[in-house]
Amino acid sequence: MNPSPTPKATEKEYQEGGIDATLRPRHWDEYIGQQHVKKNLKILLDAAKKRSETGEHILLSGPAGLGKTSLAHLVAREMNTNIRVTSGPAIERVGDLASILTNLLPNDILFIDEIHRMNKLIEEVLYPAMESRTLDIIVGKGPSARTIQLELPPFMLIAATTRPGLLSGPLRSRFGASFRLDFYEDEDIQKIIRRSAALLNVAAEPAAIGRIAAAARFTPRVANRLLKRARDYADVHPDRTDSNRAQKSETVITDRIAAAALGLMEIDDQGLDPMDRKILEIVITKFNGGPVGIQSIAAAASEDTDTLEEVYEPYLMQLGLLERTARGRVATARAYSHLGIATPQQRILLA
Ligand SMILES: Nc1ncnc2c1ncn2[C@@H]1O[C@H](COP(=O)(O)OP(=O)(O)O)[C@@H](O)[C@H]1O
Ligand SMILES: [Mg+2]
Repeated sequence: MNPSPTPKATEKEYQEGGIDATLRPRHWDEYIGQQHVKKNLKILLDAAKKRSETGEHILLSGPAGLGKTSLAHLVAREMNTNIRVTSGPAIERVGDLASILTNLLPNDILFIDEIHRMNKLIEEVLYPAMESRTLDIIVGKGPSARTIQLELPPFMLIAATTRPGLLSGPLRSRFGASFRLDFYEDEDIQKIIRRSAALLNVAAEPAAIGRIAAAARFTPRVANRLLKRARDYADVHPDRTDSNRAQKSETVITDRIAAAALGLMEIDDQGLDPMDRKILEIVITKFNGGPVGIQSIAAAASEDTDTLEEVYEPYLMQLGLLERTARGRVATARAYSHLGIATPQQRILLA
């Protein structure tokens, strides 16, 4: 079996695989922001190097597109080791994991993406591997079955998850360190856009960069995707007002182009796309602003609950448009005002 099976891409996660790869930070210094995580991770890695050990197992969590996979690759570079990439859903049988583990070379990094989607039976095979570098394999069947124990080479597991809450306690406790990636500061998103623009060989006006950053959901992957769409738009409808550059036939993303490209995608000034707005509208108009369960929202929006929880909700909550309560999701006053709908209180006052 191939020791590094291609992760089975969930559509949302990997659809930008192409540009993710081109724009992925290659060096530690190119990894912008997340200073807190970088600093702590660096100490952990430096200490391991000093002791000539393999680093401790690391869990990276946080919403999609914030740089978990990039960070795993940078750790491999920093430790000067190979990285084997797989994902929770790609490991379908115990044998798949056994084969991956026994094919590791000493000091390899094993990266398991979406570890929360790993089958629980397989998870149990991972425990002794993480803890004591052993693999228990059952050979034979019935009364003659016996367990043999294989010793594994030293390896470092880096696992990534968008849903740390779904990890079992025993699994979580086996990581030596756990880092949560946060949404990025606007300034850092702008830096990432500038770097990507340079790599894609396009010029972008400062105002255009600001506009794209504001719509990027504080998320590098989204920033890169929007930049690329703006570039497409600029290539198809160049802004002729800047004649100097037009003559050089260089791709220029002016602020006007950025605005037009975002408008075409129906992304508003806060970075909300039609589905975000639909979710808020459902909570407000169908369920009186909530509280309402996620299943009911999913049914009304014809979207699955995982996507709602992993892709849409984190950003809506970050903006303070949606709140999660014990009884369900609640739209905030800010959500009403963003959609231009009067809150129940305002309606009373107006009446
Ligand atoms: N800190 C960062 N600095 C620069 N670019 C980043 C950073 N984090 C992410 N990116 C960009 O966003 C893309 C998506 O990041 P990725 O590591 O795949 O996110 P995740 O694995 O968390 O979904 C990367 O290919 C890279 O271009
Ligand atoms: Mg990833």
